[in-house]
Amino acid sequence: MIYHTASDVDLSLADLPPLPRPARVLLTSPDHFEVAYVINPHMAGHVGTVDHGRARTQWQALREAYEALGIEVHVVPGVKGLPDMVFCANQTLPYRHPLSERCGVILSRMHAPQRRDEVPHFAGFFRTQGYDVRPLPETVTSFEGMGDALWHPGRCLLWGGYGFRTDPSAYRLLTEWLGVPVMALRLVDPDFYHLDTCLSVLSPTAALIYPGAFDDDGLALIRHGFEHVLEAPEEEARHNFACNAHCPDGRHVLIQRGSRETNRILRAAGFEPVEVDTDEFIKAGGSVFCMKQMFW
Ligand code: ARG
Repeated sequence: MIYHTASDVDLSLADLPPLPRPARVLLTSPDHFEVAYVINPHMAGHVGTVDHGRARTQWQALREAYEALGIEVHVVPGVKGLPDMVFCANQTLPYRHPLSERCGVILSRMHAPQRRDEVPHFAGFFRTQGYDVRPLPETVTSFEGMGDALWHPGRCLLWGGYGFRTDPSAYRLLTEWLGVPVMALRLVDPDFYHLDTCLSVLSPTAALIYPGAFDDDGLALIRHGFEHVLEAPEEEARHNFACNAHCPDGRHVLIQRGSRETNRILRAAGFEPVEVDTDEFIKAGGSVFCMKQMFW
């Protein structure tokens, strides 16, 4: 079932099958990271400006932040000619089947032709982990994995963004294949072209959002699904990627350095911000959440 408005929602989160928290994280080394073209508004003006030494140091610190939280890190090496591959949230959607407990990934169909060759490298990695690997049929024109499709913490429910990168027909298929409901959210501001730039699911009951990225139906769905909806101020969300934060354990929130007001809001709600610096990657339009893929 796909829900577009809160008034249609006829299910209760508590009735959905539980989903264990993934304990492993996949990163892609930034060896060949670059801003080489412009496929989102943040990349404009940054072509060729990446400081590779800084990018490497920032990536290494992100890796160490995950290790410090006790999360097992796996690395797929970056590939020459694929400058956006470091954003490894986008090429797949990992899933764990509620009944069989079998794990798999849905392979993305990247919106930009420049990114399409990234996908097979991740298919290969997940095969080595014993995952089922499922490509999408040609009828789905685009789908960008966990850039747009986010698991509700602890429950078999997907939050699915569309409007810039993902063809909403992908969600019809996912709901069928995975047997999970999808809360479909239309994105309306091109700076927030992926759902993970404006919604960070923090815990089963809390989310951090930038409200201006959604339409009224979307906002109502989010408020229906999360008891506590924290709002990041526009400046921090738009320019500092505050909502591209990642909470891997229900408590610590890895977030781009410098979002003072968002950090205050997070602390007041009982979360612990862990600041990392990803500003070399923000030049390409991505921060913490885009740079990792959690899996079981
Ligand atoms: N340059 C990349 C793109 O436009 C950045 C992707 C960021 N990833 C994300 N999950 N938001 O596709």
